[in-house]
Amino acid sequence: MANSENPLRERIARELRERRENGLFRTLEQPRGISLFSNDYLGLASDPRLREETIRAIRESGRVGSGGSRLLGGNSEDWERAEAEFAAFAGTEAAIYFSSGYAANLGLLAAVARPGDVVFSDSLNHASLIDGIRLSGVRKIIYPHGDFVRLEAELERHGDERGAKFIVTETLFSMEGDFAPVGDLASLARRYGAELIVDEAHAVGVFGPEGRGLAAAAAVENEALAVVHTCGKALGSAGAFVCSNRVLKEYLVNRARTFVFSTAAPPYLAHQIRAAVRLARGMDAERARLAELARVLREGLRGEGFDVGAGASQIVPLFAGTNERALSWAESLQEEGFAVRAIRPPTVPEGTARLRFSLTAALTRDQIEHLIAACVNARRRASTGSACSAASGG
Ligand SMILES: Cc1ncc(COP(=O)(O)O)c(C=O)c1O
Repeated sequence: MANSENPLRERIARELRERRENGLFRTLEQPRGISLFSNDYLGLASDPRLREETIRAIRESGRVGSGGSRLLGGNSEDWERAEAEFAAFAGTEAAIYFSSGYAANLGLLAAVARPGDVVFSDSLNHASLIDGIRLSGVRKIIYPHGDFVRLEAELERHGDERGAKFIVTETLFSMEGDFAPVGDLASLARRYGAELIVDEAHAVGVFGPEGRGLAAAAAVENEALAVVHTCGKALGSAGAFVCSNRVLKEYLVNRARTFVFSTAAPPYLAHQIRAAVRLARGMDAERARLAELARVLREGLRGEGFDVGAGASQIVPLFAGTNERALSWAESLQEEGFAVRAIRPPTVPEGTARLRFSLTAALTRDQIEHLIAACVNARRRASTGSACSAASGG
């Protein structure tokens, strides 16, 4: 049957066409050049020690597949030990592993929130939090990014409602590179009888004592209902832990559908994650180096008159404003050997098209200096109109 006679296939083709026309078409590409979009913040994904530990675990393990869901044959001592050790790392009573951060957020939110409850969610929260909220059917109040006056006003306004209330936030926002004040949010939650759920995806391994995250740094990891730590970024592995008290873990084992109805990850991955956590704890030198590289880049770009926002993390946005400018800057930087993409609406709010530099401890100071100079060049080329707008992404 030709596409034109099949409404569904016609719709799929039309939507793809529209995405292309609007410059929103996504493709899978291998990064080329000096990567400025890796989340492997500490370099653990290619750390020889972690590779050795993983190879050893595969060699010693009786099997490389788990054989089933955790509730049906896929459980093992390896995963129980990984969860116990991760809980100790996160500073909570318990932890439960999901196969991805996306699955963790989806499973957690859809399990704990329900119609009749209210979720207060930062407008820049990650898609996995948004989708979990949607799936739960809960009423959602989206507060403007970082506007805690508005959040408090909303909490006050919904003060008399009987359902449960949740404040949901990332601790380090992936597009802005700025922090949520986790301690203040915990106080707000306490004052208004709300539960706090925080996502530490970009903070774990990088911030907090021994890289334990920003909830631990603010000493509210036990007060929060749940702290989600992903393993695919600074921990160089895959999956995520929802860290909480024992009762919530038991609840999630029973009710989180992305846990219950999904095959357990292979046992060697549990070893890899345990090794990654042990290594990450001792990587203060890499954390300091990363902070220094981010400082040099921010200050250098600010000194050249660029807008890099208000963050202070390893994620540095470079605001271009218009889509055309962001595309042109990205293309110039690509020509100078940097793997970087323009991030445009709808991924980010209208008028805030940007480049996003995600730094890792593997970068050198020379590369950062080169990057600053390349940004200045890119701006000059764009203003003289010599760069065309073919670079894409976001
Ligand atoms: C804030 C945040 N939460 C959750 C996730 C999802 O984690 P994962 O990649 O493990 O599915 C991401 C991934 O980019 C993220 O940035």
